[in-house]
Amino acid sequence: MKLEDVKHIAVIGSGSMGHGIAELAGLAGYTVTMQDISEEVVNKGYENIKWSLQKLAEKNLVPKDVAEQAEKNITPVVDIEEAVKNADVVIEAAPEIMKLKKEIFEKLDQFTPDHAILASNTSSLSITDIGQVTKRPSQVVGMHFFNPPVKMALVEVIKGGDTDEATMKLIYDLSEKMGKTPVNVVKDVRGFIVNRVLVGPYLFEAGWIASRGEATVEEVDSRMKFYEGFPMGPFELQDLTGIDIGYHLTQEAGLPIPSLIEEKVKAGEVGRKSGKGFYDYNNGGADYPQEAGKNFDPSLIYSLMVNEAAWLLENEVTTAEEIDLAVRLGAGFPEGILRRADKLGLDKLLTTLEAKHKELNDDRYKPCQMFKDMVAQGKTGEAAGEGFYSYGQTAAASYHAIQLDIDTDTHVAWITLNRPDRLNAINEDMRNELPHAFAQLAKNDDVRAIVIQGAGDKAFSAGADITEFSAGKPYEFAELGEFFTTPAECPKPVIAAIDGYCLGGGMELSLSCDFRLISKRSEMGQPEIHLGLIPGGGGTQRLARLIGTSKAKELCMMGDRISADEAHRLGLANQLYEDNEFSAKVKEFAETLAARAPVAVRMTKRVVDEGAQAPTSTALLLEREAFGLLFTTDDMNAGVTAFLTKQKPNFTGK
Ligand code: COA
Repeated sequence: MKLEDVKHIAVIGSGSMGHGIAELAGLAGYTVTMQDISEEVVNKGYENIKWSLQKLAEKNLVPKDVAEQAEKNITPVVDIEEAVKNADVVIEAAPEIMKLKKEIFEKLDQFTPDHAILASNTSSLSITDIGQVTKRPSQVVGMHFFNPPVKMALVEVIKGGDTDEATMKLIYDLSEKMGKTPVNVVKDVRGFIVNRVLVGPYLFEAGWIASRGEATVEEVDSRMKFYEGFPMGPFELQDLTGIDIGYHLTQEAGLPIPSLIEEKVKAGEVGRKSGKGFYDYNNGGADYPQEAGKNFDPSLIYSLMVNEAAWLLENEVTTAEEIDLAVRLGAGFPEGILRRADKLGLDKLLTTLEAKHKELNDDRYKPCQMFKDMVAQGKTGEAAGEGFYSYGQTAAASYHAIQLDIDTDTHVAWITLNRPDRLNAINEDMRNELPHAFAQLAKNDDVRAIVIQGAGDKAFSAGADITEFSAGKPYEFAELGEFFTTPAECPKPVIAAIDGYCLGGGMELSLSCDFRLISKRSEMGQPEIHLGLIPGGGGTQRLARLIGTSKAKELCMMGDRISADEAHRLGLANQLYEDNEFSAKVKEFAETLAARAPVAVRMTKRVVDEGAQAPTSTALLLEREAFGLLFTTDDMNAGVTAFLTKQKPNFTGK
């Protein structure tokens, strides 16, 4: 079966995962039956879908007619045979109990057409075992969404022991059609990717560290959140997901449980849902101070996460890129765990792990072979030139926070700010990589115009990565501003293609470009004031020069976002385009610019920018000198000859 052949999807379960998955399938245009054990339960799921679709439409995240159609596409059903009898794909999202899943899959096998693919949204159970209760194990597959499915971008597509390639591909393609980013997990291993890296090493190791008295709950949480950039500390996260959930999964896997976690579960203090967990939610909640984490060393947590990730590579479960993508999208890691390992140094992490292994004589701390081999071979990370990634001459291949594409036919280079999971917030990698890319592009004669755009569908960039603010030093922030001069200093013209949020440092980066093209749905703003800051990358200066001091002060002091219409009206944006035409219009603008006489374009940029800083007489002199100089170029000859012979000029940039 091909993706085009999929018409009807059945979702088993209407809880938080089930109804979210049904909603996504309805939004993707499929007819959907959503099944649960009683009318009351399934109708509640359906009400949740209606509410969520309404919110998506209200926030303009989905067109109103699409949301209305999605609602009509979904039918709540109680009878399982009725729900699945016409299904091309079934996605099961029932509770995580193997016996129950097996019963359901037996029924699915019996009631669905022979061609139907049977997917399970399990986060922890064996796809192989589930598949074996059916007569079609090759068509049984894992399709693991993250909670809440409508918001979280990741889907792990898991190959059971018997799953065939065609089934894997279909579910991968279907995940994309449902607006998600799939990663392939080609072996049916415990925890797949995200939970394997997250649960034991992050959540549970934090429990062990506190149980052994090596650090307090607040010290660990503060370190990981404020200094390491994780969305929340491991204890706060367990309170949110429910301490009992990880506890039962770990118990089922036959693994030991830290005493602190055991005590919490026994006392019924399982997190937010019970009012108390590691923190007391009737009394302030997870309000740990930033200073608490200052001296806690997170190496052990990192070394365990890296060990699990290396184990996945050693066992050919997936690739380094997919592991990093999965932990970013599925667990909100600030960057890929393997990328971070390369920065921290594999040798240091291995030393930490081996020391703990020796100290406790516990095999949970035993490094896997690949981890040891890499260190023995000197592949210790970025400083050594090679780790999980290569950091050699071909730097473009090892960009992590940006993507660079050069179209040699049109002479346009496209730089994509590539952290869509953080709204393309500017982090350390981006600050290193963007100037590097510009240095390459300045030298590359094939490139005549450069476009900066944001990845994903929400933002150009939401500014500096705020999660890096606690760990940085004041002088580093003072120097940070240099990054924002990069487009302005480039001799070639640079276009900011703004589609979505363009805030703080993102806006300042765009102000450093020569042109700002904006889509109607976009919003711009300098919200730093809400953080007790001022713009640090030219926001007070370039903005004032562009739109006048008074309006610039208003934007910087009030911190409000302005619409694309207003940005255009103020002269902040050169062109305002309809949302659905945006990409095509940007391309046209960039290609037209790249087709103009390259030397004259570069001279224009320099004369306008430098002239604006100089007295008028000096500026006019600059202009005259440049004008005269251009008479020595092949481009001028080509332009004049083309005019006289009524042909199109062919500029060579010489
Ligand atoms: N730094 C780091 N992370 C950022 C970020 C930033 N500047 N801006 C957004 N993100 C992250 C969010 O924390 C969130 O991560 P999560 O999914 O792990 O929670 C993710 O990007 C998506 O953003 P979210 O806030 O859920 O989207 P939204 O549509 O509700 O709101 C914004 C969008 C832009 C209004 C909001 O993210 C925001 O106010 N960001 C900060 C903007 C800012 O102050 N910039 C200036 C920095 S100096």
